[in-house]
Amino acid sequence: MITFDEYKRLLKSDRSVRRFDNSRRIPREILNSFIELCRYTASGRNAQPLKYYVAHTREDCDKIFPLLKWAGYFPEWDGPEPEEQPTAYLIQCLDTRYGENCLCDDGLQLQAITLGAASIGINACIIKAFDAHTISETLNLPEHLSPRYVLAMGYGTERVKIEDMDENEDACFKYYRTPDGVHHVPKRSLQQLIINKK
Ligand SMILES: Cc1cc2nc3c(=O)[nH]c(=O)nc-3n(C[C@H](O)[C@H](O)[C@H](O)COP(=O)(O)O)c2cc1C
Repeated sequence: MITFDEYKRLLKSDRSVRRFDNSRRIPREILNSFIELCRYTASGRNAQPLKYYVAHTREDCDKIFPLLKWAGYFPEWDGPEPEEQPTAYLIQCLDTRYGENCLCDDGLQLQAITLGAASIGINACIIKAFDAHTISETLNLPEHLSPRYVLAMGYGTERVKIEDMDENEDACFKYYRTPDGVHHVPKRSLQQLIINKK
């Protein structure tokens, strides 16, 4: 068992990363082992309706990259340069034969994967803003598999720093980048998350 402090450290290290070393690929077996983690997550109705397409070849990655939108708060940034692009993608799909809704299985599994990846120095970014229709067509996905999320993965090259957010309820929660290239992520304080203080 890991200690609570080790778990917290891992979670704190598990930040969204959007710039990677495009020359370092992730072996297919490692990507498969991330998906295996999903077997141990909780599942509404225990239906386990989520499946993954593993994109790990350069050819697949080059097809997927243009269909993604990066960092909505940085409209002037077109996303990672070719040498910074992710080297793998896991396309999380809902198998609609088991229902049209996966409740919160999607988020639980995404975090299980990103934590597992962080534990071995691999970074990720969960992406919801993508062209699901074209991804389905490009990857020839059968009709019953509906893409829900794309998890972009690779060995990160950017520094991401958590910042304590102002206590003020109107404080800005937008992430930002400083001229030194560091990506800053404001997080609300514990006090702000607890409704009843005593
Ligand atoms: C449901 C969800 C959807 C997201 N979609 C995108 C996205 O489309 N593009 C992107 O660049 N980041 C996306 N992100 C990453 C968030 O911007 C990121 O989690 C947030 O800025 C906080 O940073 P952190 O993950 O390091 O804590 C998404 C994250 C979540 C949980």
